[in-house]
Order: sequence, then structure tokens, then C-alpha cells
Amino acid sequence: MALKATNPTNTEAWGKLQSHFETIKSKHLKQLFKNDADRANNLTINWEDFYVDFSKNRITTETLELLTELAVELDLKNAISKYFEGDIINATEGRAVLHTALRASKNANVLVDGENVIPEVYEVKKKIENFTNSVVNGNHKGHTGKAITDVVNIGIGGSDLGPAMVVDSLQYYKNQLTTHFVSNVDGDHYQEVIKDLHPETTLFVIVSKTFTTQETLSNANSIRAWFLESQPKEAVSKHFVAVSTNVESVKSFGIDEANIFPMKDWVGGRFSLWSAVGLSISLALGYKHFESLLEGARKMDEHFRTTDFNENIPVISALLTVWYNNFFKAESEAIIPYTQYLNQFATYLQQGIMESNGKSVDRDGNKVNYQTGTLIWGEPGTNAQHAFFQLIHQGTKLIPTDFIGYVESLYGNKDHHDKLMSNYFAQTEALMNGKTEAEVLSELREQSASEAEIKELAPFKVFEGNKPTTSLLIQKLTPESLGKLIAMYEHKIFVQGIVWNIYSYDQFGVELGKQLAKSILKELNNEVSNSIHDGSTQRLIDFYKNNC
Ligand code: F6P
Repeated sequence: MALKATNPTNTEAWGKLQSHFETIKSKHLKQLFKNDADRANNLTINWEDFYVDFSKNRITTETLELLTELAVELDLKNAISKYFEGDIINATEGRAVLHTALRASKNANVLVDGENVIPEVYEVKKKIENFTNSVVNGNHKGHTGKAITDVVNIGIGGSDLGPAMVVDSLQYYKNQLTTHFVSNVDGDHYQEVIKDLHPETTLFVIVSKTFTTQETLSNANSIRAWFLESQPKEAVSKHFVAVSTNVESVKSFGIDEANIFPMKDWVGGRFSLWSAVGLSISLALGYKHFESLLEGARKMDEHFRTTDFNENIPVISALLTVWYNNFFKAESEAIIPYTQYLNQFATYLQQGIMESNGKSVDRDGNKVNYQTGTLIWGEPGTNAQHAFFQLIHQGTKLIPTDFIGYVESLYGNKDHHDKLMSNYFAQTEALMNGKTEAEVLSELREQSASEAEIKELAPFKVFEGNKPTTSLLIQKLTPESLGKLIAMYEHKIFVQGIVWNIYSYDQFGVELGKQLAKSILKELNNEVSNSIHDGSTQRLIDFYKNNC
């Protein structure tokens, strides 16, 4: 077994953290700031263009020491080496986990089954580069000689969310191509996307690691049928390319081998945007920007791999999740980017984090006796403030929140950016400090409220505060800084999995529903007589069949 399996709750550090928790759980952040004049400085990491302030978390330097002690006791250092070196750390699927190799430098040496994978990584990158350049500069034309104007990425899960999020986030850097994403098996989704497209000027990129995914194959088949309604069969080779590990199935679909961009099974779907799965990113932004994205991730890999735990951004960030999840019993984490560009970021991370760490069996195959994966959610600020922030401020749940902000805006409208960022700063301050009863009373008196009104209203206006936040302040949203940010969360996922003693890189939990859907589909198509379902499911199926 590549990774050691230790129940974290049986470690010495866990016991110490438990006692430490008792001393800290009722301390207010305001008090912690009063106790340590240098707190903000001590709990902030300044790395490259990232300024990461952990000081508004319900921790002290002692908490951090104990959390890093836990990481040491669980042999995190050794696990990190195994992760980067291509050991079979995805043991339940018998695979290495090597998205880091996709952004490694050309002279790196990463062995899988005794063979260095880096030369092949660079071969595929060259193929992506050449193809991107020929489409973007108009050399690769549609079959009638017209330049490609639109690219449609057909994929789902990791074969959609990563590319879609990056293309949307970096739209400022886009070239003239318009990129679309079709993912849902809902036929209305693909119809809405293709309705205004011209087959002669559209390139379809079918992305499926396995090339067996029902949604993607249904969409690809329907879109190809639509294409062939108006275009000849020979045109397919100019308009359809695919990304997959399953070259044979792609060929049977009718795509030439030359138009297949291969990927390896050691790239997990939700970590695959750095591979050929990122072809749509490269096409949308140009290969140079795609490379910068990878370069940013490579820098974060280096930081994660070589920095002491107490200065290591992904490590601290992951340990804080453990702190809140397992000691404070917080159930979710919010991610609030203060940029509309990162509109899809939380959705993207939902797959990364929840598909990876939503596990309840440990690496020895035993049911865990502690909480694992957190719920992830979020929306960009300031919109989120007008939607669900009420609950974070005054609700009953503790929701540790990451605030992601940028020093510079892309179009440089300082007036708007200052307004945006004043909210970013104000929210973390408000969440931390809250508003005491005394403050509420004096505020109401200033507003000349009557004593009766004051008495009635005051309880509703008190904010407890003490809500933990982490502030990530990044210089500017660029392909490189986005690469760093994504890689930071990827490594956070890895560290959480090591601490929780689970396998983060399989996803068996998504299989059962897929299997049942397959057999129910046969019933809907009247290919088999109804199988036995529970009363509820049976009535729902009958209602659907009788009314469709
Ligand atoms: O949802 C399960 C899953 O296997 C994801 O992990 C994956 O990203 C997605 O389906 C798509 O898979 P594929 O790329 O093989 O079509």
C-alpha cells in the first residue's frame, strides 16, 4: 500500500488538539487580536503575488503548531513525495495521481512503471500548441474553406467544469474564437448551444477520459447527426476532434487518429484541465496563455513541495478545514471571489473537493468514526452579500469562508474596484468583529429611537462576530495567478485526504445512480418490462410514462 493508513483521531497530536480546542473554542477573534499585537503578521504568508492572511481564523500560533504536528505525525512529507513521484496513491483504482507531471518542467523525471512520462507530456503539449495555432491563425479551416469561428466543448464533470471555469475566468485574455460548453444530457442544453451555430465554421471538441460517459456520447452523437444533416461525411475530420484515454472507442466514433489528443489514466478527471482536456482553454485563450496557466500551477507545486508546513499555503489551508470540520464541527465552507470572472470557481471546486473527499471508508477499508469532506459553496462578492451572507453573519452555523480578492482590476476602473474591494475588506472585518449589544444600543440612540423601540429591536441587531475567514489577496487575475490558485486548492484536497486517511482519487459513489439510470432507461423505452422498484420510484416512473 503506497500510503500509510493511520486513524488521525488515534494520534498524539489529535489528543492535544482536542484539549487545545477546549481552551480556544469560546475565545473571540477580537480577543485573540488583543492578545497578540503581531498576530496579523505572524499568521500571514506573502508568496509571489499572493498575500494570504490566515489571522482571522479561530486559531493561535499554538493551534498551527499542533496542526502541523498532526501533519508530521501522519507522515505528510512522505505522502507528498509519493504524490509527486508517481506512486500508486490512488490504490483503489491502481493508479498514480500525476496532474502535477502535466505542468512539470521539461527536464523533470517522473516515473510510471519505470518509464519517464515527461517526454510524452511534452509531445501532447506540442500537439495542442500546433493545433491551437493552426485554428487560431486560420490555417485549419472548415471543410468549405472558411475559418473556424466557434468551438464547442462536449464533456461533463472534469471534462467540462475545469475548461469551462478557466475559459470564463480568463475571458479577458480570449482571442476571436467563441467557445461554448455542452455538458448536460438534457437535450435542450445542446439544442440551445447549437441553434445559432454554423456547422461550416464550428469545431467540436469531444472530451471524455473514458469515452463511455452517457451524457457526452449522447451529446456527441446528436451533435454529429445535426452536423451531418447539412454537411458531408468527409467533413467530420475537419470539424470533430476528441480528447480521451480510450483511442479505440474514439476511432469507432469516427474520429481520425490524427484528431485524437491522448491523455493518461494517471490524470484524474477533476484534475485534468492541465492535460489535453484543456484543449478548449488553449483554443480560447491561445497556447501561450495555456502555458502560463500551467506555469502558475508549477510554481504552486514547487511551493507546496518544498516549503515548511508552517509557511505552506495549501497545507495550512487544508489543516484549517480539519480544525473547523473535526473540532468545531463546521459542515461547510464558502468560497467567495471578489471578481465576477470567478463566477464558476465554487462550482468547479465542488467537484474537486466533494468528489475527492466525500468518502466514509478509510484507507484500511473501515468505516471512519469522524467527519470527512466538507460541503463547498459560494458565489462572487458582492452579489453573494445580497443573497446568503445574512446566514453567514447571523445564522446558527459556523461557515469558514475564503475571500479571494485582487489588487488590480483588469479594465482598471479604480472607482468600481475600490468599491468592490471596500466590501471585500469590510465583510471579513464585520464577520470577525460583529456588533455588540452596547454598540447596537448606542447606534439606536444616535438614531433617536425611543427606549421601547431600542429594547425591542436590539437583540435582532446584535452580530456575534467571531466568524472565521481567510483572505487571499492576489495582485491580478492572470493565467499564471489562476494556475497558482487552482493548484493551491488541488493540494489542499490532497492534504485533507491524507489527514482523513481516505482515498481522494476514486469516485465509486457516482456509479450506483449511473447503473440504475441505465436499467430504468430500458424501462422508459419499453425494452424491458418494469423491474421491481420501491413504491415511490415506481409511481414516479409510471406518472412520467403515462404523461409523456
Ligand atoms: O462524475 C463521475 C466522473 O467520472 C468524473 O469523475 C469525471 O470527471 C466525469 O465523470 C466525466 O468522465 P469522462 O471524462 O470519462 O467522460
